[in-house]
Amino acid sequence: MAAAPSVLYLLILFTIISAPLSSSSTPPTTCIIGSGMAGASVAHFLRKYSHTGPIHIFERNDVVGGRMATVTIGGNTFEAGASILHPKNYHAVNFSKMLNLKVKSDDPDESVSLGIWNGSEFVFKTIEYDSRFSWIRSILGFVNSVRMLVRYGVSLFKMSRFVEVTVDSFLKYYQTLESRPVFGTVEEMLKWVGLYNLTTRTLNEELIDAGLSSILIKELATVITRINYGQSVSISGLAGAVSLAGSGGGLWAIEGGNWQMAAGLINHSDVALHMSEEIKSISYVGGAYELNSRKGNSYKCDVTVVATPLDELHISFNPKISIPDRKLQHTHATFIRGLWNPAYFGFNHVSDIPELVGTIESSDLPFTCISILKKHSEKDMTYKMFSRQAMTDVLLDQIFSVRNKTIRIDWGAYPLYHSPEQFAPFILDGIHLYYVNAFENAASTMETSAVAAENIARLIISRSSIEPPSISSNYATSASIRSDLHSDL
Ligand SMILES: Cc1cc2nc3c(=O)[nH]c(=O)nc-3n(C[C@H](O)[C@H](O)[C@H](O)COP(=O)(O)OP(=O)(O)OC[C@H]3O[C@@H](n4cnc5c(N)ncnc54)[C@H](O)[C@@H]3O)c2cc1C
Ligand SMILES: *[C@@H]1O[C@H](CO)[C@@H](O)[C@H](O)[C@H]1NC(C)=O
Ligand SMILES: *[C@@H]1O[C@H](CO)[C@@H](O)[C@H](O)[C@H]1NC(C)=O
Ligand SMILES: *[C@@H]1O[C@H](CO)[C@@H](O)[C@H](O)[C@H]1NC(C)=O
Ligand SMILES: *[C@@H]1O[C@H](CO)[C@@H](O)[C@H](O)[C@H]1NC(C)=O
Ligand SMILES: *[C@@H]1O[C@H](CO)[C@@H](O)[C@H](O)[C@H]1NC(C)=O
Repeated sequence: MAAAPSVLYLLILFTIISAPLSSSSTPPTTCIIGSGMAGASVAHFLRKYSHTGPIHIFERNDVVGGRMATVTIGGNTFEAGASILHPKNYHAVNFSKMLNLKVKSDDPDESVSLGIWNGSEFVFKTIEYDSRFSWIRSILGFVNSVRMLVRYGVSLFKMSRFVEVTVDSFLKYYQTLESRPVFGTVEEMLKWVGLYNLTTRTLNEELIDAGLSSILIKELATVITRINYGQSVSISGLAGAVSLAGSGGGLWAIEGGNWQMAAGLINHSDVALHMSEEIKSISYVGGAYELNSRKGNSYKCDVTVVATPLDELHISFNPKISIPDRKLQHTHATFIRGLWNPAYFGFNHVSDIPELVGTIESSDLPFTCISILKKHSEKDMTYKMFSRQAMTDVLLDQIFSVRNKTIRIDWGAYPLYHSPEQFAPFILDGIHLYYVNAFENAASTMETSAVAAENIARLIISRSSIEPPSISSNYATSASIRSDLHSDL
């Protein structure tokens, strides 16, 4: 009962503020920079939460999807960037249902072998590996393998437990709108689910505290963080836990390419999509943002959302914005059709080489991992390789005896993770300039982009209706969100 007067006050206040606004002005125009998972999801959630104004999306490339992209080599198409989803990536699950996208999941009948290469020999080799994603996060699916148990013992279960606890905390972001606040900062958002502390320490520290053996940390955990984030176990505990989160199987992807999630969301959100149009400047003038593109066009926007990492971009902001310095880890993805050379790995036969070669941290190692994407025949395969530096032809000629086709992609892939992690603000200028990718310092995945985007959409709607001065005088109100935000009524 004590809350009643203030609630009443809020209600009256809202009625006073919103009524004249919605009747006297046109709905706001929202401009989103970037058509990846983040930008597409902001558009989707703005529409879902009944935002009526025009939405523009600007994409500098001639395709949508950003770091969700495919590569075609020798007539076959593969994921070149973000490749796998976790079964508890619930936004992605819902998007794929809503968009009628075909899903391919883990096939337990197909198994692949894993080896951990230290530059001169395999320190560990499994025989079986239950996943057709001969790639990455499903490595924890090995927990049941006898060889793994022999080498790593109970530490395997401690690692699984550490991951499970983190995933369970993350699930709070799927709670109903009534029970979940709108977050103004990344710190607040992480604290609310109890994950903030994991960003203040390294994965190595967290795993030691969780009682894992040093051999597991040095080998298995390192192999996984190198594959997923191109970095060592000195990344933050949270990014580390996310990269380890492949246990229990059930990994999946969108048949034909994960980029179709972004394409579908954009298609269903009544968006004006501006392809091959790079935004070069954002200026706040006279109560709105003016966006200028390299094509020479100018757009007026009431709300502007940056849905791409700003770290390597040359967008000029006026007035200037200030965000913590952040470097991106570059991951060089190299696709090869041909055949690898067993002698490089000290073997006589191609069939002796594990189908997924992971690596430990060592300055001598020129690559992070190599996996077989497809076996066309015993002498003709397609491989995917990650490395921190570009692979030279000289190096590739040592690792591969036949190389009929090579495709190289240099990704500004994800942040270089530290501890303690520093976060850019979600609201860059205190007005209506938003930054979804501030959340990437927590972890970078398709799903975390969607989760951050959902919060940004709510933040936009809640702030545009509550703030009366200058710029928000343009805002239509959103009754559904408003009542959600004040469910304690
Ligand atoms: C090699 C690799 C493997 C990965 N593996 C996985 C995985 O298995 N699972 C997973 O969940 N995640 C994975 N990720 C991470 C995942 O790809 C990203 O976290 C996610 O896709 C980021 O989406 P985003 O929309 O935030 O950014 P992006 O996808 O980068 O989208 C930003 C978009 O903005 C555009 N843009 C930039 N500047 C401008 C401008 N000035 N004007 C107009 N447009 C602009 C860009 O062209 C781009 O299309 C991987 C990433 C890489 C690189
Ligand atoms: C996914 O869709 C189901 C069914 O519509 C819904 O109950 C659930 O809340 C949705 N999950 C998320 C994360 O939006
Ligand atoms: C690789 O492992 C072998 C055997 O454990 C060891 O002798 C060798 O020094 C290791 N090499 C590197 C680069 O760590
Ligand atoms: C995070 O760390 C602080 C300071 O050490 C501590 O007080 C708090 O209880 C921790 N929170 C969680 C959720 O572990
Ligand atoms: C967009 O959606 C419509 C139906 O809503 C569909 O017919 C069309 O194929 C979609 N286009 C793309 C590019 O997804
Ligand atoms: C590579 O190309 C050569 C010549 O076109 C062909 O004979 C050979 O079968 C190809 N090998 C592989 C592994 O694709």
